[in-house]
Amino acid sequence: MPKHVHAIPVAALLVSVSGAAALAQMVTPTVVPDPPKFEARGEISFVGPTDIYAFGTLAAYHEPAWVTEEFVNTGKLPPVAERLPKEPLIFKTATMKDGTGVYGDVMRHVIGGRPEGWNWIAGQNQGWGGVEYGMWECLTRTGPLFEVRADELAPLPNLAKSWEWSEDGHQLTMHLIEGAKWSDGDPFDADDVMFYWNDHLMDSNIAPQGGATPDTFGVGTTLEALDAYTIRFTFKDVRPEGVLYEMAFGKFCPLPSHVMKPQHPKYNADNTYEEYKNAFPADYKNFPGMGAWVPAAYRPDEIIVLRRNPYYWKVDDQGNQLPYLDEVQYKLSTWPDRTIQAVAGSGDWSNLEETQNYVEALRRAAEPTAPARLEFGPRILGYSLEFNYGSTGWGDPDERQQANRLLNRDLNFRKAVTTGLDRVLLGDSMVKGPFMAIYPGGLYPDTTYYNQDSTIYYPFSVEQAKAYLEAAGLKDSDGDGLVNYPDGANVEIALLASNAAGTDTTLSDGIIAMMEKIGLRVIADYTDGNGVEARRDAGDFDWAIRRVERAFNTVLQDTASLAPLGPTTSPFHKAGPDGTIEVMDFEQKLVDIMNEFRSATAERRKELMVDYQKIFTENVYSAGLVNYPGALIINKRFRNVPAGTPILSFQWAEDSALREQMYVPAEEQKDYELFPKTLAGL
Ligand code: GLA
Repeated sequence: MPKHVHAIPVAALLVSVSGAAALAQMVTPTVVPDPPKFEARGEISFVGPTDIYAFGTLAAYHEPAWVTEEFVNTGKLPPVAERLPKEPLIFKTATMKDGTGVYGDVMRHVIGGRPEGWNWIAGQNQGWGGVEYGMWECLTRTGPLFEVRADELAPLPNLAKSWEWSEDGHQLTMHLIEGAKWSDGDPFDADDVMFYWNDHLMDSNIAPQGGATPDTFGVGTTLEALDAYTIRFTFKDVRPEGVLYEMAFGKFCPLPSHVMKPQHPKYNADNTYEEYKNAFPADYKNFPGMGAWVPAAYRPDEIIVLRRNPYYWKVDDQGNQLPYLDEVQYKLSTWPDRTIQAVAGSGDWSNLEETQNYVEALRRAAEPTAPARLEFGPRILGYSLEFNYGSTGWGDPDERQQANRLLNRDLNFRKAVTTGLDRVLLGDSMVKGPFMAIYPGGLYPDTTYYNQDSTIYYPFSVEQAKAYLEAAGLKDSDGDGLVNYPDGANVEIALLASNAAGTDTTLSDGIIAMMEKIGLRVIADYTDGNGVEARRDAGDFDWAIRRVERAFNTVLQDTASLAPLGPTTSPFHKAGPDGTIEVMDFEQKLVDIMNEFRSATAERRKELMVDYQKIFTENVYSAGLVNYPGALIINKRFRNVPAGTPILSFQWAEDSALREQMYVPAEEQKDYELFPKTLAGL
């Protein structure tokens, strides 16, 4: 992340919005051109990790008065001090932007997804947009790292409060927080962690939501519980410290074994895996959580309401149990509507990322009466075109799909595709102005490991693209303007994309038209958001449009997705049913780089990523499309929003901005609560 950025008034930016993007077109292979200047960004105040929070004890603890009155005094809940763990996680008020908060009010989110249910460890999603960040608690936490000083950068503790490496570096012993409880009062302990590991991650019938696979923590890694609060990983590698990042959202976030085990097929012969996955639907009553808020109500296509978790194990340093906000709502709408509502004030939060809203959102936010603050971050959003490289039966391809995968594996074919893409036009079709930059692929600009000189760009040229297609052995044998397979049929590539957000369809339509001009037939393969993820994970695609990749921002988060480090770590190149994978020569170099990266020094990591970026972009591993900045929009009544929070860094802003410490001053609180003075399940 850039260390030195200046906030400039949003209005100044508007002046340049109407001008066409100043992106140069070139005719010979080169490094990627400079992105257009874009300065309207918030400034980050960098801190050390323990300035944010640390485990400890305090003399006394407090909670909202209504909780004491309605629940503790009536015997429905033990006193707050007894509900907290031995050592709660203490948030430091000195580094909170506005200091100690007060209780009350609601965060009204709007989301475009729909919850499948609460069983994320068996593969269900919760609709995104922060539902999951508010509910999942994971062994470590990385969202707030965007504001941690570079020399102190390391994953923060969370459910794992501390850890140490064995002398030989093969073992990592982690100490779980002691005496913390699920929201129904049942103890959280190593049983919950082992239930996730043994009966989900290592169970081949299950693919947890969040992308964890048996290889995520290293091929051959094992985990055991030493006692109720101690777990120990054993790795084949020496000190693979990068795995600590993978233990954050969303790859190591357990669920309550006491409620779920009785439904799991291993312990319940009457249940199928499908039944288990669906055993905790979104209207399930009182599903226990470790998060700041837990589900209280759900109305399909309308709303999800979460209420404060009375057993939440985090406090501020004055002893106030967090969160400060009593309720969180997720109105079920569309992603573009999230921005429209946040800007209008009927919603409280948006990650501005749907480019069709940029100009209007900027204009409205610049008005003094605007209900919400809008702050841009660096260019950390991007879209890529991914090629399916599976050649050993991943996703059970038919003959045509198999032929397309072999084409994907041909460098000349990929060069044809990338050269045939007019990225300036693609960017313009999303939004005009200084936002869009040409993105050849790999790391995003404005990020720590990015290196412009090693970012190879194949400039747009229809003629050159046609020449590459010919070099790939593809000819138009029937004179219809489209290249053919050897058997005479037109080559036909299906492009998987989400129809849930306008941006993806805009890009898909653009790509299809551009490919037709070079003589390659590509057909649209639209599916809804959940469907795209499922089909991509299952290998059921030729090409896929992928929105944002956390690993391209930070490298440290989701490192394993940057190359096929095992049979299942790459998003677009996984093994077939027999567990084998045919890694291409250049790909092997990426594998070697990423394997070394995990235990390399800071200096060496920089060098490694220069090579990575060069090999990635030279070989068009994925064809990047466009890069652009996002903005965080939050209603002005909220305090403690960390300055300069990017909408995406190690995590999305819903994690980075630490919602559990946000509050609304008493005099600005509104009457938005749907379930005042209630607690889920009590
Ligand atoms: C979706 C949204 C993002 C963010 C995440 C949070 O992906 O598009 O802006 O809200 O959910 O998980």
